[in-house]
Parts: sequence; C-alpha cells; structure tokens
Amino acid sequence: MFTKLNKISNIKCNITVPGDKSISHRCVMFGSIAKGTTHVSNFLTGADCMSTIDCFIKMGVDIKVDSTNVTIQGKGLNGLKPPKEMLNVNNSGTTLRLITGILSAQKFTTQITGDSSIQKRPMDRVSVPLSLMGADIQGTQKYGKLFAPITITGKKLNGINYTLPMASAQVKSSIILASLYANSQTIITEPEPTRDHTEILLNYMGADITKEKNKIICRPVKELYAKDINVPADISSAAYFITAGIICPNSEITIKNVGVNPTRTGIIDVLNDMGADIKLSNQNQSAGELTADITVKTSSLKGTTIYGDIIPRLIDELPIIAVAACFAKGTTIIKDAQELKVKETNRIKTVVEELSKMGADIKETDDGMIINGVPKLNGAFIESHNDHRIAMSCAIAALNAEGETTINNSECVDISFPNFFELLNEQNK
Ligand code: S3P
Repeated sequence: MFTKLNKISNIKCNITVPGDKSISHRCVMFGSIAKGTTHVSNFLTGADCMSTIDCFIKMGVDIKVDSTNVTIQGKGLNGLKPPKEMLNVNNSGTTLRLITGILSAQKFTTQITGDSSIQKRPMDRVSVPLSLMGADIQGTQKYGKLFAPITITGKKLNGINYTLPMASAQVKSSIILASLYANSQTIITEPEPTRDHTEILLNYMGADITKEKNKIICRPVKELYAKDINVPADISSAAYFITAGIICPNSEITIKNVGVNPTRTGIIDVLNDMGADIKLSNQNQSAGELTADITVKTSSLKGTTIYGDIIPRLIDELPIIAVAACFAKGTTIIKDAQELKVKETNRIKTVVEELSKMGADIKETDDGMIINGVPKLNGAFIESHNDHRIAMSCAIAALNAEGETTINNSECVDISFPNFFELLNEQNK
C-alpha cells in the first residue's frame, strides 16, 4: 500500500494519540506473570503489542482484547505453559528482548523467531548477561553475534552484578525480568539512564526494585500482583504531531494525556532548545507514570547539537527530529546515536536516504547525522523500508514540502500508530 500527501497549513486541533507502546508491552508481560486479573485501558493495539499478546496466549494465558481494553488472567510467576509451537514476535524487538528474560527462568524450552528485520537485530546484548545468570540461550551465530531464531531452555538463575555496555532499556528490562526469578539480588549499572517503565510498573505490581545513582538493584520476589493500568498516550507517537504543529504554517495542536516520564521527554528539551513554542499543562499521574497535555504552535527553529546522555531519552524520536532540523536555520548535529543502526532499520542510513530524496541537506556520520536547514523540501517517492518511524517522519516532512509525496509500504505505521494516516487526513479537511 502507498499513501500520498501534500502540503498543508492552518492545522488547529485537539487530538489524542494511541497508548504508549513500551508500557502496553509491559502490561501484557507483567500481567501474564502476575497473580490475579489485570485490566488495561488505552492499550496500544498496534501490531507489535499484538505480537506480545499472541506469544503469551500461546503460553496458556487467557487474554481478551475489547477495543483498547485488555484483560489478562495472570498465571503467577511460575504458571506459564510450554508453547506448542515456535513463538513469533514478528517485527517487535521489545517483545523478543524482554520475553527472553522471562523465558530464561521457566521450566521448559521455547523457540522464538521474528521477521527478516528481527533476524538482523543483535540478541547477544541480552544473551550475554542472561547466560551469566545461568540461562541457556542458543541461536544463529553470525560475525560472532547471536541472532533469532533462538532457543531458550529455562534454568535456575543466579543474581549478577552487571554493567551494561550500551544504554538500552530493552536489555536492562530483560535482566530485571530474569532477576525476579533469581536466587539472589541483581545489580545493573547503566552508562546513561534509559526509560524506566519496567521498574515503575513492576514495583506497582509488587516487585522490589530500587535505584541508587546509575545502579538498579533488583531483589527476587515470590509473586507479582495484578493491577488496573491506564496507559498514557505515547510521546513517541505524539512526536509526529508535535513536529507537524511546529513546522506547518499558522498551526496550533494540543495532544492530550501524553506520557511525560522524564526518561522519554528528550524531544521536548531539544525542540525547546531549537526555539519551539511548546507547553505542558494538566500534569497528572497514571500507574506511576507522569502525564500531561502538550500544546505546540508554529515556530521558527534554529539548529542545535544533540549528544551524550539525552540520546536514550529521544532515541526513537531522532528520525522526526531530523525532519524538524531540515526546517531550522543553521546546522543540527546528532552524535552518540550509533544505537540507531540496530533499530527496525539502520535509521542513520534510512533517514539520510529518504530525506535526501526530498532535497534535505543531510549527511550520515559514524554515530549520527549532520543536517543543514534548507529553504524548502520537495515532495518525493519515499520508501518506508517497512520501518514505521521512517514512514511517519517522512509523512510529516511532506506536510511542509512543495508538491506531492508518496510513502511506499505505508501500512507499516500499524506497528505503533494504526490510525496515523486517518488522524493526519482529518487535519486536511
Ligand atoms: C524500548 C526501548 C528502546 C526503544 C524501543 C522500545 C523499550 O530500545 O528504541 O523502541 O520498550 O524498552 P533500546 O532500549 O534497545 O534502546
């Protein structure tokens, strides 16, 4: 499928975007291994989170989806059943990395795979620490690295003291999940803080996880307990409309009830720094997560340098930040973002390739990109590379480009934001 887009202005709207992808995954996983019934509202029914649901249903968990409400009949920490077939996470890295932590401690063997993108994403980053805990994880070895499909044979695990070689919430979460089952405490040291939804939600459900500076201390527990969880809107999805409101002429957009956990708000800090008119109001809390309404207005942007410990706080927003940078005066430099190379696609390459087609002045570097603002972008034929964030970033660039843009394989937005194009089209009427 392809989608055509044209230039628009005067976007004036109050919208809601779907629930947070990271938190929705965690609700299913933690609800499945908790005691009791977990009720989730505003769940993201995007393809990635549906893959997580499918994996747990195959391990005997009763999960019902009714619109954006999900009910999970938890099995307790040790109640999962061996799946009858190979699990398939499709495109979802979060499912694969986190579930591996849980499966490492079960009393059975599981095989798990995913699509062609997943089979290229490194798994040694989780298998190395989990093996130190006693896990048995086998898979495809290439260039000294481990890739899916993998086979996990559950073992009795021991606690470890581990320093993460990269800032990754997925790796941290995988170890934390394994540590729930271990016979002693685990201490994880992070090079930079990453999203802490696992710590917040697990503690909300009865875990014992504390933080001391950059160390996360996890003590084993006997059980987790079901809770009601209302998932905040995903700031990574809000980011597209935040940017649209800033770059399109004469616009003002409010996005309601967005998750503004400080480990996720790097994009707000960067856009503020670039001179954007962006305001938070109605601050609130939901299941331990901070929320707020975000209002943006058309703004003149200037270039900036983005590097260091802010990178994990905006890693998924770098493609859309690159779009904003095209419309800024001066140069934007993105450094320390080599993790972009191991996302759904190599996002340094795919962002540079696709925005270049629209006339962007953008150069790939070893750990990021350099973008010079240009007077205008032009419509082009864009390949999504089946990467939802590339499709949506280029779609927003198209809203302020001269002429028509076509996004090829645009259906991939279903991974994280199924109604993205419907919501965009509503602003164009
Ligand atoms: C995620 C963590 C991030 C992010 C991904 C979701 C999570 O990955 O890019 O989209 O839910 O934990 P890394 O932790 O590997 O950087």
